Amino acid sequence: MTSNPSTKQLREKARTLLREAVVEFDGRPVGMLASLDSEAARLNYDQVFIRDFAVAAVPLLLENETEIVRNFLLQCVRLQSIEQKFDCFEPGEGLMPASFRPVSDGAGGERIDPDFGEESVARVTPVDSVFWWLIILRAYVKATGDEEFARTEEVQRGIRLVLELCLAARFEMQPTLLAPDGAFMIDRRMGVYGHPLEVQALFLAALRAAHELLPQDDEHQEHVGKRVMHLVYHLRQYYWLDPQRLDALRNGGVEQYGEDIANAYNVYPDTIPKWAKDWICDDGGYLAGNLGPGRLDYRFFAQGNLLAVLSGLATDEQAHKIMRLFEVRREHLLGDTPVKLVYPAAEDRDWQLLTGSDPKNKPWSYHNGGSWPFLLTQFTAACQRTGCGDLAAETVEGVGAKLAADDWPEFYEGRDGSEVGKQARRRQMWTAAGWLGASLLLENPDAAALISWPADLASEAC
Ligand code: GLC
Repeated sequence: MTSNPSTKQLREKARTLLREAVVEFDGRPVGMLASLDSEAARLNYDQVFIRDFAVAAVPLLLENETEIVRNFLLQCVRLQSIEQKFDCFEPGEGLMPASFRPVSDGAGGERIDPDFGEESVARVTPVDSVFWWLIILRAYVKATGDEEFARTEEVQRGIRLVLELCLAARFEMQPTLLAPDGAFMIDRRMGVYGHPLEVQALFLAALRAAHELLPQDDEHQEHVGKRVMHLVYHLRQYYWLDPQRLDALRNGGVEQYGEDIANAYNVYPDTIPKWAKDWICDDGGYLAGNLGPGRLDYRFFAQGNLLAVLSGLATDEQAHKIMRLFEVRREHLLGDTPVKLVYPAAEDRDWQLLTGSDPKNKPWSYHNGGSWPFLLTQFTAACQRTGCGDLAAETVEGVGAKLAADDWPEFYEGRDGSEVGKQARRRQMWTAAGWLGASLLLENPDAAALISWPADLASEAC
């Protein structure tokens, strides 16, 4: 792509916002505010969110702004909980906060105040932060070649603590990770407790990053390799939905007992929603939002599916089918302002039950079917990964001017995603970063490797 002046200007606007969002601590840049909206401080948008910074990391690394990424990574590891505490009010060993901010230390200096969810709306815990940290770390090392940083004692200990936190013994006997409701990007009640796809895809990407970043003879490598294999098998097998799988669910039988049964999770055919019947095109498919006893969440979650394409969770064939669905159902999944977070929205009684009658999550808004432009970077990388770069170019180039004119809103709402969300913050950092990262990737498709892995798991098989 040759950059025309207007793309240049739009990029400059996005960069200006990112520069203004930089947060310093001890005279060094350590992250970026979630939003520069005048209302940002009313909730916690005046903090550095780990997941939001992960979006910014892509354009930063692509534009050689590596110092802030390195400082951020170090800051996160310094905030990681490191003591084994049996106090249920303290963050568990290995956990990283959802967000942090510099505050006065009362003695003329500053300290960093992390939020592990103890102050957040509805007290939601961040399961995803440690995974994003590993993904950014691996991207940083790939972009800069600074392997020495990853090998420092402090960073290596951080990696091991994350692994010990998520590979620990638990109640369950399956490879997926049990997560409470609202524990990731969807940080409000949305019926996403259990084994949400997004957390599983992040878990896989993080395990693969750890596998690359730890020495080959590290004692954790064997467990990491095994978990990667089991996790991938489980998700490809049980979460995958396409017309054939829906038929199998319809006709596969229920209440089966024993090892070799078709309907292992006892999902009743009546749970297949009417909309799903003809919605999946013959050459398309996607991974379900969640799976548990008697429960398959048929909703299409964009971030989980895009991360599945990027992390190698989906086979190459599945990845093509996911992106084909984006193409065929672009009106639903991309809409006027890409990318829709979840399709379809929960409405009426489903909305009451799943969101707890949450007006912020009213149908086709916010997490419940709203449209989030920060996903453009992941969308573009997933398109490039599967050979549909034209779809990405059309999508990204078509929307930049609108995002800038609307002052980079946090999200859009409405069935087609055409209206700026009434409760959306403007000047949202990851909206500008998501578009800028996508625009830069269009020019440099190979850079998608910073946030992607091959679907072939040969190197992890130990
Ligand atoms: C909202 C989003 C969350 C994001 C935060 C800061 O709480 O749900 O995913 O990290 O805002 O932008």
